[in-house]
Amino acid sequence: MSIWHVTGGRPLRGRIRVQGSKNAVLPVIAASLLCPNETELTNCPHLSDVDAAVDILRYLGCQARQEDVLSIDTRSPSRCDIPKELMHRMRSSVIFLGPMLARFGEAEVSVPGGCELGKRPIDLHLYALRQLGAEITEQENAISCRATGLRGAEISLALPSVGATENAMIAACAAEGSTVIYNAAREPEIETLQEYLRTLGAEIHGAGSPVIRVTGFSPRSAAGLRVPPDRIAAATYLCCAVCAGGEIRLTDAEPRHLTPVLEALHKMGCAVSAGPGEIHIAAHGRPHAPGAVVTRPYPGFPTDASPLLMAANLRTAGTVMFIENIFESRFRHACEMQKLGADIILRPPMALLSGVETLHGARMFSPDLRGGAALVAAALGAEGESIIADLGHIARGYDGMDRCLRELGAEVWMENLLPDEPV
Ligand code: EPZ
Repeated sequence: MSIWHVTGGRPLRGRIRVQGSKNAVLPVIAASLLCPNETELTNCPHLSDVDAAVDILRYLGCQARQEDVLSIDTRSPSRCDIPKELMHRMRSSVIFLGPMLARFGEAEVSVPGGCELGKRPIDLHLYALRQLGAEITEQENAISCRATGLRGAEISLALPSVGATENAMIAACAAEGSTVIYNAAREPEIETLQEYLRTLGAEIHGAGSPVIRVTGFSPRSAAGLRVPPDRIAAATYLCCAVCAGGEIRLTDAEPRHLTPVLEALHKMGCAVSAGPGEIHIAAHGRPHAPGAVVTRPYPGFPTDASPLLMAANLRTAGTVMFIENIFESRFRHACEMQKLGADIILRPPMALLSGVETLHGARMFSPDLRGGAALVAAALGAEGESIIADLGHIARGYDGMDRCLRELGAEVWMENLLPDEPV
């Protein structure tokens, strides 16, 4: 258990470099299984989700080591199953299914299960792999896949699922013939995966559009990639600056990945400017309500940034309607924010926020990765000290968030309690 101590009332000043993207690097780590190769990933963030993905590779018999660079060697895997304890450590572990099927012709994994955000079904992943010729049996707790040979297919996703698109792209690289993925997810992380698969020798086009075509694969023995900036981490620090007030600059950021978030911050009255690889924000005085915040698949407003923008609006002048279209349990942080004095009416998938003049420090519990980060952000704008108990959620997706906030002048420190220590 980590305990975050946050004392509000101090404006943020300065600049920080945005970490590498969690959601870009995880599918790339899985895709490194596709063929025997040595992969080097630079700018890879130090996160517990990355540790979990690396541990899966090691369990499969591969070599992997993260120092400044994440070095992976997938030339000699020795097994093709992933046990429950590894599958459940990281929500998106299902992304290993396609690469294992493509490399080994078989895969045995435990059902990944739901998470704090909701059921997190994988029916679209299994549909895509079956289209490519996989025979998949689903038992209560395990999924068994076999494929004597994957063959190219047309895959029409009922929803633009990020993970299902990624599994389909990776498996299709090893399929005989051509594959077309319709209604593909368009997130920037899909483009990063395409870039990596090309370094492995894949013929793949269309990432970032709704139609992705994969025509074949001639394995190369060495691959590499620089992990792009994490757009949700960037949104997080921008919203922290709004909560605390002040002026910060983000370097190694990618403004074009954050258009809906930057538009909302601009509507709130923040001075937001973006240059090549940089985003600058100045937030002084009380923000204005930005209008409704409706989450949608990319390029719509990202669901992962919704908790952060809610934190940034707790003291806004006016009301903000949040509508969540992606995950059924996205608003768990709202009840915790009410402990600070926030005025939020919850009617999922809607939440109606009315800005208040002041917030006061409180003891809160982090409900999930982005909700936990949003509570830290909200506490920066509250009077006095807040305490946030976190069961490791924040470390899954943020590389040194406490250190980054201290570099910007925030009064934030963490303590790690032993499992049986009282909060
Ligand atoms: C990815 O999750 C991200 N995770 C999530 O970020 C992000 O919130 C999400 O995409 C949406 O952008 C990673 O990339 C590791 P989906 P993913 O499949 O792939 C439904 C974070 O905080 N669905 O696009 O699991 C699903 O229930 C995390 O960094 C099915 O119905 O998301 C959801 O309603 C949280 N069947 C919707 O699609 C399926 O087979 C979008 O899910 C798969 C998904």
